Amino acid sequence: MSRTLRTRVAIVGAGPAGLLLSQLLANDGIESVIVDQRTRADIEGTVKAGTLEYGTVQFLIQSGSTPHAATVAERHDGIEVWFDGEPHRLDFPALTGRHAYLYPQHSVLIDQIATRLGAGQDLRFETTAVAVIDSDQPVLRVQDAEGAYDIVCDFLVGADGARSIVRPVVTGSSHGGYFREYPYAWFGILAATTRVSKELMYSASPDGFALISQRTDTLQRLYFQCDPETDPDAFTEAELWAELQRRIPGKTLQQGPITRRDVLRFRSFVASTLRRGRIAIVGDAAHTVPPTGAKGINMAVADVVLLAGSLRELLLYGDERPIDGFSDRAMKRIWSSQHFSWWMTSMTHRAPDADEFDRHRQLGELRTLFSSEGGRRYLAEYYVGWPFETVDGIWSAPLPAVAA
Ligand code: DHB
Repeated sequence: MSRTLRTRVAIVGAGPAGLLLSQLLANDGIESVIVDQRTRADIEGTVKAGTLEYGTVQFLIQSGSTPHAATVAERHDGIEVWFDGEPHRLDFPALTGRHAYLYPQHSVLIDQIATRLGAGQDLRFETTAVAVIDSDQPVLRVQDAEGAYDIVCDFLVGADGARSIVRPVVTGSSHGGYFREYPYAWFGILAATTRVSKELMYSASPDGFALISQRTDTLQRLYFQCDPETDPDAFTEAELWAELQRRIPGKTLQQGPITRRDVLRFRSFVASTLRRGRIAIVGDAAHTVPPTGAKGINMAVADVVLLAGSLRELLLYGDERPIDGFSDRAMKRIWSSQHFSWWMTSMTHRAPDADEFDRHRQLGELRTLFSSEGGRRYLAEYYVGWPFETVDGIWSAPLPAVAA
């Protein structure tokens, strides 16, 4: 092994968390190296969630991570939640003074990658992390087409997704944490068709959950609840449209060619700790949520906001206290998002063993929530997101200008 590289922070994973972290470190003059086993095209082409919290987008813009967000991210002032056969709208600005964004994750990544490369970031695609050695100077052993080499650093961060290679080193085992499995999954399609509505529609129908989401004016993302063992190729296109339409009976869906189909399994997970010595995990490496409410990328950004400040204090000023408190502080927001994702899921999905009591109770919850302004505000606040905790205190994005 002839090559050895030295850097201050080694980051595994060029997803939203790893890329934002490198940006924040660079803003503080701290050098980092990012490795990712995927190609750039793979990263930029992966379909993930589409909605982002208000503060997430404002933070991405302010940090310089996504300079094109202002033109690419679409402002969404509400969602429709369908039950009892009709829509119930949440008006975000009226309830919270803020709004959400439709900003598909691959668009975020395209902007983040171009920005980091443009700034001279050391970002190594097709470079696989194969081992992590824990010490005061952690070592990341990687492998690329030319062979293996070591990256020696002052701090190592696993932003490498749900199958993280860094997590076991931090928690002591690959399963160290808290889990919840769910008896359902989502059948997701991408369809070349126009939007059926300006806003996203969530439906809690007697036949189960559906979500009509969007990507662009001509490409839509739709989901319906299914059994986790469903074979994505087991349905014809006509059957898929019929299944979706059955769950939103009051709205005529715009049909079009289905360009992609997949089954997304659900799972909640929170690692027992996010840090050990000079190694930390963030984003999906540290926690996963069911997709309802699209909290994943927002949680990753919140972790990184706090971690980047803690690393600044440690690496520039030798202050260990913020990094010592990082995991406990980050956990508070993580568990709020966990709760929201679990609750939105439980309130809108039909469990396979649900009986009529469960069904009526669920409708009782939805009706009570939506008939109360306090209830609607509670849900809307969750959806548009909370302020971020930083090392220097709470960071709230400035509120949007109120339309005249
Ligand atoms: C997507 C959007 C959502 O609001 C959500 O809750 C889940 C997924 C999406 O666009 O993929």
